[in-house]
Amino acid sequence: MENIKRVRKAVIPAAGWGTRFLPATKAMPKEMLPIVDTPTIQYIVKEAVESGIEQICLITSHTKKAIEDHFDRTFELEALLEKGGKTEELRQIREIAEMVQVVTVRQQEAKGLGHAVLCAKAFVGDEPFAVLLGDDVVFSDEKPCLKQLIDVYESTGGSVLGVQTVAHENICKYGCVDGEKIGDRTYTVNDMVEKPRPEEAPTDVAVLGRYIITPEIFEKLENTAPGAGGEIQLTDALRALAKEQSMYAYDFVGRRYDVGDRLGFLQATVEYALRRSDLRDSFGAYLKEIAQTL
Ligand code: G1P
Repeated sequence: MENIKRVRKAVIPAAGWGTRFLPATKAMPKEMLPIVDTPTIQYIVKEAVESGIEQICLITSHTKKAIEDHFDRTFELEALLEKGGKTEELRQIREIAEMVQVVTVRQQEAKGLGHAVLCAKAFVGDEPFAVLLGDDVVFSDEKPCLKQLIDVYESTGGSVLGVQTVAHENICKYGCVDGEKIGDRTYTVNDMVEKPRPEEAPTDVAVLGRYIITPEIFEKLENTAPGAGGEIQLTDALRALAKEQSMYAYDFVGRRYDVGDRLGFLQATVEYALRRSDLRDSFGAYLKEIAQTL
């Protein structure tokens, strides 16, 4: 398609308090909680980079300095590792800082996800951009989840929401998409509703923390009144945008974990550990042994 700009920028909202994970998040950003040995936010940033994203804007708050430090260089540590001949560790920590250009914008008041995305207006400018939510970690051994959405954007030119069908009783935790199925995995988005009660939900198709959005969303966000939970909802602005532009939802391929939830976090920890060649055998044997005692 002509006139379609490449998706180069991503916004990662990371200003929330992480109340679902207290007490761990009392003094530490929830995005820094490690799955095995890697902070959850690093999985998200890596997915963006592997999808072709060149610049990332993290929306943070004053309690999130550790995230900024994580993506910066640490010269003292590098010198120490170099001196100790720890070349693999040195490679790993340099890679984090060199992976992509990361900028941060402070969200000064916790006014919701829509407001957090609005904070990235100047960073995004007049381009389509990606949004990745830190509570949703997606494992895919083929094409990264975000790249799957970018491909749909490039063939349609419309905003694309990453979705999967969830159990009916769980739709109340998500943005819900009302639309028509137009392909194997693709829907048009006619309407959306944020966290509907199951009896009111038009479908069980849930938005799972990945979006490609056209820049016209900013004007919608500026005119979105507080919605569910008294917060400015991204879903409400997307809904307004869907009335004016074609919008799509794509049922992405991949295993998604809600790492903002204790059970989801534990599942991610176990499954990521079992995918690691250095841990699979010993950890798998331990799990088998302990499972027999349950
Ligand atoms: C947010 C969005 C919701 C989306 C969900 C995915 O909700 O508002 O539309 O389905 O993320 O994880 P939150 O979980 O931040 O309340």
